[in-house]
Amino acid sequence: MKQFTSVADVADIKQLVDAALALKNNPYADQQLGKNKTLGLIFLNPSLRTRLSTQKAAINLGMSVIVMNMDKEGWALETQDGIVMNGTTVEHIREAAAVMGQYCDILGLRSFPKLINREEDYNEDFFNKFIAYCGVPVVSLESATRHPLQSLADLVTIKETWKGAAKPKVVLTWAPHVKALPQAVPNSFSEWMCKAQQEGMVDFTIAHPAGFELMEDFTPGATITHNLEEALNGADYVYVKNWSSYEEYGKVLPFPEGWMLTNDHLKNTNNAKVMHCLPVRRNLELSAEVLDGPHSLVIHEAGNRLWAAQAVLKDLLQDLT
Ligand code: CP
Repeated sequence: MKQFTSVADVADIKQLVDAALALKNNPYADQQLGKNKTLGLIFLNPSLRTRLSTQKAAINLGMSVIVMNMDKEGWALETQDGIVMNGTTVEHIREAAAVMGQYCDILGLRSFPKLINREEDYNEDFFNKFIAYCGVPVVSLESATRHPLQSLADLVTIKETWKGAAKPKVVLTWAPHVKALPQAVPNSFSEWMCKAQQEGMVDFTIAHPAGFELMEDFTPGATITHNLEEALNGADYVYVKNWSSYEEYGKVLPFPEGWMLTNDHLKNTNNAKVMHCLPVRRNLELSAEVLDGPHSLVIHEAGNRLWAAQAVLKDLLQDLT
């Protein structure tokens, strides 16, 4: 693998999931692979899980890690070309990314959408320029439109915990929130589940209120419904996540009743396991009774972020030229 920014960068998702699970059983087998190699983790936004799990994954592989909170510690970056930089930006991404590539063998980058201009966010301008100028493989730590390390960990969790004979029914459900959140996690989860569905690993359904449709590019082959009860019927995994409207981009729409998952919602599921990428707002996005109860997989899922990151870094290290 030459970079990890979406499911499209992965030749074989089953193999990558199995690699992550193998690393979970044998975390320190590849310590020589990362010797004298440096991972740079560049954050323009906050993180708990992605930062710590990716750092730990690199340590397990024998790598050194440099972390930079670019939003607080770096120079204000310019991304536009042909501009006279006589405003507030101090350094152009052309130089900044290229310099980071001089110090690191692999770079991870987190850069959220601004949620003002949909076209700008969905063009992934910042991410693509960073990749173009840094000159080393890039791992997405969450971009404007995708969070592939999270989605890989989610698929690893489903593969690891599913004991049924048939394919599990996986349901992505919209949840309420008071802020306009990005579509990166649901886009990415959907993209990975659609690929997993094509590979015969899962059956995939998305449930959301009208007005919260995801961009169609991320949902090929998914069953999509506005009826939560119907979607949850027979579900084996329920993936809870808020996202803001793609159509009414960046707006906080009034949130509809009945979409916060409670134990009552789970009555007609197949004793479903409940997942969430975290952080989660208790009793707004997801009820405390579900989070604290036997259905919840959220801590196990967060733990698997480590093995997902380690599988990705191992693959990138093996392909370094
Ligand atoms: N799920 C996730 O990416 O968590 P962080 O934002 O804390 O990294």
